[in-house]
Amino acid sequence: MKENAALLTHASQLLTLRGNVAPRRGSRMSDLGVIPDGAVLIANGKISAVGTTDELRKQSTNADEIDCRNKVVLPGFVDSHTHPVFAAPRLIDFEKRIAGANYEEIAAAGGGIRASIRGVRESSVSELADRVLKALNEMSAYGTTTVEAKSGYGLDFDSELKSLEAIQRAAQRWPGTVVPTLLAAHVVPPEHRDNPDEYVRIVCDEMIPAAAQRNLADYVDVFCERGAFTPDQSVRILRAAVANGLKTRIHIGQLTHTAVELFAQFHPASVDHLDHLTDADIAWLAKTDTVATLLPAANYFLGLSTFPPARKLIDSGVAVALATDYNPGTSPTTSMPFVLSVACTHMKMSPAEAITAATINGACALNLQHRKGSLEPGKDADIAIFDASDYRELPYWFGVNRCWKTLRGGTP
Ligand code: NIG
Ligand code: FE
Repeated sequence: MKENAALLTHASQLLTLRGNVAPRRGSRMSDLGVIPDGAVLIANGKISAVGTTDELRKQSTNADEIDCRNKVVLPGFVDSHTHPVFAAPRLIDFEKRIAGANYEEIAAAGGGIRASIRGVRESSVSELADRVLKALNEMSAYGTTTVEAKSGYGLDFDSELKSLEAIQRAAQRWPGTVVPTLLAAHVVPPEHRDNPDEYVRIVCDEMIPAAAQRNLADYVDVFCERGAFTPDQSVRILRAAVANGLKTRIHIGQLTHTAVELFAQFHPASVDHLDHLTDADIAWLAKTDTVATLLPAANYFLGLSTFPPARKLIDSGVAVALATDYNPGTSPTTSMPFVLSVACTHMKMSPAEAITAATINGACALNLQHRKGSLEPGKDADIAIFDASDYRELPYWFGVNRCWKTLRGGTP
């Protein structure tokens, strides 16, 4: 008998997602590796066995038992794209959009990302950390155990570094796993409006090296978009990331098209949004390990009638992940089950594909597939338990929380 052992028993369905550790594509996105009457043995924060309740009872005599009758047990969600460091909701933008303005019109009138800058600059690290922690706790209440968290509303040296410190402090107080990303290239802040290249220089020569030296970021992200950063500026920023030993991810194709292949040299872990995409982009994505991360809650919240072409991506062999894009402008939700629901109803993903996209493929989008995203011996005991008997209920019930328990490294 090992220390700190727990045995989950009698799950109606245990979704193991077991298999290889490469991102899932095509029909493999539908293979959840379901074990009926399933059980999971946990020891010292890791999974030590999965199987049926009968099989695992024989291996474990005195682990604390958690009865999962009438429950679906699955790997905790990996929310691989969030912007949690902000000071206030953007209610003026919300009302303007209801009255008919679009994202770019709101930004041109002083709303959008720039409207969140002052709140972050004026907040202390501990105020921001408290807000991030509150979001992380909400996320785990909905079944999320790993979260990628971006800076991106400070947009000067001190405030971007402060934002990353807030993420680090919140992560220290949360039992799940947090992956920090520097998104200093979110928009050009007002003081550099007349010379955006000077801001790009500060990002490349000052912010990225400092974030790397202080170990405050694993990734650098850039918003490559009309009104944000050009492809050339984005290339400079990603080059600086790689030169400083950081990995890359990109916001691309949200409002207008940019060819994804322009960034092939950086081997981005993930390219995110992808509302505007060509067949050439899809063909390129199908042959790389770069994950296509779709954020349909943003389309929902912006009131759009169009969504990223998930069906076409999956049917073409692209590895698709789903994430919340939690942020104050376009996606104020911490709920992965809500994202799964929108993915099924508006992007025509099947419930099984949506679950794969939110677990193992999300883990691949963060290069964490060896530790996260499936229930297999040796992996972290990051587990979500839902009050449901069939996995299709996860995206089916929407606007309510059916998550019963979340274990993060075995910790409730
Ligand atoms: O992912 N696209 C850029 N960033 C966010 C929006 C941020 C905001 O509006 O505050 C997004 O949708
Ligand atoms: Fe985003």
